[in-house]
Amino acid sequence: MSAIKILLVENIHEVAKEKLIEEGFLVDLIPHAPAEEELNQLLKNYQVLGIRSKTEVTKKVLQNNTHLLAVGCFCIGTNQVDLKAALVEGIPVFNAPHSNTRSVAELVIAEMISLSRQLGDRNTKAHIGEWIKSAVGSREVRGKTLGIIGYGHIGSQVSVLAESMGLRVVFFDSIKKLPLGNAMVMSTLEDLLKISDFVTLHVPETLETKDMMGAKEFAAMKQGSYLINASRGTVVVIEDLVQALKSKHLAGCAIDVFPEEPASNKEKFKSPLQGVDNVILTPHIGGSTEEAQYAIGLEVAESFRRYLKIGSTSGAVNFPNVDLPVKHGASRLLNVHKNQPGVLGEINSIISKAGANIEGQYLSTNETIGYLVMDVHSSHAQGLATEIEKLSRSIRTRVVF
Ligand code: NAI
Repeated sequence: MSAIKILLVENIHEVAKEKLIEEGFLVDLIPHAPAEEELNQLLKNYQVLGIRSKTEVTKKVLQNNTHLLAVGCFCIGTNQVDLKAALVEGIPVFNAPHSNTRSVAELVIAEMISLSRQLGDRNTKAHIGEWIKSAVGSREVRGKTLGIIGYGHIGSQVSVLAESMGLRVVFFDSIKKLPLGNAMVMSTLEDLLKISDFVTLHVPETLETKDMMGAKEFAAMKQGSYLINASRGTVVVIEDLVQALKSKHLAGCAIDVFPEEPASNKEKFKSPLQGVDNVILTPHIGGSTEEAQYAIGLEVAESFRRYLKIGSTSGAVNFPNVDLPVKHGASRLLNVHKNQPGVLGEINSIISKAGANIEGQYLSTNETIGYLVMDVHSSHAQGLATEIEKLSRSIRTRVVF
């Protein structure tokens, strides 16, 4: 086990390296995002790769490095990895989808207060020498109603924080969710929009959520209410939002995500919302905190540990998810194979010919591969793995303990 070598690129948080070294792995950390050819060469010496969002893991890289055991994206998105090619080579790809939940929730709370005190505009004006001291239109958030659309990881955290500041919380979700604290479920989106002083969006980007908030929905919102979007840019029709703000039906908004976002910090950002009163614009920083980077480092390092040491693939984005408890006294074999009829029979016949006893067996499949975790009583587990590996439809076989 200690021989497994892990390469972490793109300045992944040091905590990941520390945790993986504690587990007995050999870890190297490099600061930059290697381009295709460099990555190709580097990987010859490593069995596991950790990246952030800038390193492209292409089909060519994966096909030239079929010895790779796993890839970890120390971020949320995984489209920088050719997931299909990784699957075909039997390589699970992990990410850290929820490590920045709290960071987003805190930003939303800050934005509610900022909007109701016009902090953005007053700060900008003070910087250019204008003194706007007035209470008109400034309100406390205490006692107001917050409407949360999408009561998942982030939405439910916002709910708890908002209640502790004295807001009344209502929410709408497309599936049944347990309300936390005193939050109340709304049966329709319209019911929520009608009564909320603040509306905050926490839905994923799907066909159903595309343009979910447009002219009709803004008209249904309370006069003088506010919109916050830190979910995905496609959820809001920006032109309709601009209209609702300019007509003063909405009193302001805070937007962190946009239908089109600059690809890097060097690109110029343009939006029809620029220059509109009481509009807070942020460059998709909802989840960008040092704590989130730390938590991401821990989350993906833990996924590596679980996969490399016990074969657990739970949380892998491209792979059948299997999570079995450790069985003491048995050896665990992992096998990835092409999902075709008869493979399991071939594997079992190797085991029974060797006279080994199968203590537990779990098979999970998708349309391309089968992932088999097998606990056997045998002093020759490595020999069995070598035999199974020789099967023409085996992609990879490994003994983990
Ligand atoms: P989640 O998957 O935990 O929760 C999403 C919730 O939305 C679920 O409860 C789901 O049932 C509900 N939902 C889905 N479709 C719906 C519909 N049509 N109507 C009502 N409810 C619906 O997701 P999580 O982690 O809470 O993330 C929410 C959003 O925040 C995602 O879009 C994610 O991409 C975004 N995000 C943004 C970040 C930023 O930096 N601004 C950072 C992290 C996440």
